[in-house]
Parts: sequence; C-alpha cells; structure tokens
Amino acid sequence: MTDPALHRHTDYGAESLDESDVGSDPIEQFESWLLEAADRGVYEPNAMVVGTIGEDGTPSSRTVLLRAVDAEGFVFYTDRSSRKGRALAAHPVATLLFPWYTLHRQVIVTGEVSRVDDAESDAYWATRPHGSRLAGTASAQSQPISSRTELEARVAALEEQYPEGADVPRPERWGGYRVRPSRVEFWQGRSSRLHDRIVFTRRQDGWDVERLQP
Ligand SMILES: Cc1cc2nc3c(=O)[nH]c(=O)nc-3n(C[C@H](O)[C@H](O)[C@H](O)COP(=O)(O)O)c2cc1C
Repeated sequence: MTDPALHRHTDYGAESLDESDVGSDPIEQFESWLLEAADRGVYEPNAMVVGTIGEDGTPSSRTVLLRAVDAEGFVFYTDRSSRKGRALAAHPVATLLFPWYTLHRQVIVTGEVSRVDDAESDAYWATRPHGSRLAGTASAQSQPISSRTELEARVAALEEQYPEGADVPRPERWGGYRVRPSRVEFWQGRSSRLHDRIVFTRRQDGWDVERLQP
C-alpha cells in the first residue's frame, strides 16, 4: 500500500537559526525555545523522547515529561525498576529528543544520567495529584500484569489505606533522573531541506558552538 501520508514534502517556513541567535549557553537557548513552544501552542511542549541503552546493548525509547531544567541538567521522574530504569542502571547515559514539529524545530540533548536525590524526589512526589501518587504506588512499571482489573483492585485497596488528603509515601523505586548535557543540538527547519543545525558541545570551561550540515 502506498500511503500518501508517507510521501508528503512539507516545505518548512521562513524561520531561521543563526550562530548569532543562540548565545553562549545552550540551557538558556533551550529555555527560550521551550517557552516559545508553550506560547505558540505546542501540545505537551515538555514531552521528550528518552533514548537509553539496555544491559545487552539494545536501544529503547519512550516519551516522558521534563519536570525541571537548569544549569545542572534536565530532570524527569519515573519508576527506577522500569525498563528504562534498568537500562540507566547498566548504562547511565541518555538522549532526550523534543519533537516540536509544528514549529519545525527539534532539540536533542545527550548526556550522563544521575539519580535525583531523595529530598528532591520527595518534593516533586508531593506535588503530584493524589490519584497519580496512588497509581505510581500500585504500578510496578514495565512489569507484566494479568489484567486491568488486578491493577484497579490494587488502586482501590490503596485508596482505602490512603484516602484523599492522606500522605501517600513515595515508593522507594520511584524517583527522578537528571541528564547533564554534554551535547545539545538545535534544529530549525528551513525551505527546501536546507535546515539550520546548531550544536553545542561541552568543554571544560564552557561550550563550543558549531553549525552542522543539514
Ligand atoms: C506524553 C507522555 C508523557 C509521559 N510521561 C511519563 C513520565 O513523565 N514518566 C514516566 O515514567 N512515564 C511517562 N510516560 C510513559 C512512558 O512513555 C513509558 O510508557 C513508561 O515510562 C515505561 O517505559 P519503559 O518501559 O521504557 O521504562 C509518558 C508517556 C507519554 C505518551
């Protein structure tokens, strides 16, 4: 079957990204694009595709939500006993890809990964809605389960133990990861596939900036 959706040639718009636009700090540039993505109506602008390397070298990816970003890195929260958690235990490196297609932009971050400490994970856990805390407690992420009914029964039991308003403790296995960027690439789609790619590479005392061929 030839699906026309596979053969479109959208010509990307008039926006550009120049070395002189990006400044000297990729985190500041990222924050500015993230705000713009939110302002310009990108759905879930903080959603990013996290790529990891499994224990046996198999790559895998999935979407998670960026929950914090600063000079130290990019933070997301998950279940550390999940497939990604096991991959990160074996190979503490990741790529994060922000697919802002409607803006004709993407950002790719690569770096080493460390665990967010307990106090910071606790503080974020406390901001989660009650239902999300129950779900995070009930679900051993990425493990098989016999049925949805079983999962819902677990949540119902937890609801009795921790009614709305009760303090639901953060499970030991649940917490954050921080990706400390060593490379950050900003991609801006341009006309006729002559796109802009500006890449920052960390050096000891700052960042190198280069333009890559599209
Ligand atoms: C928009 C979106 C946001 C998501 N956010 C998270 C998140 O912040 N943390 C998380 O653990 N999973 C999140 N997920 C689910 C993951 O994509 C994935 O299914 C889950 O983390 C298990 O992945 P793993 O088996 O590779 O470890 C999100 C999925 C989508 C589509």
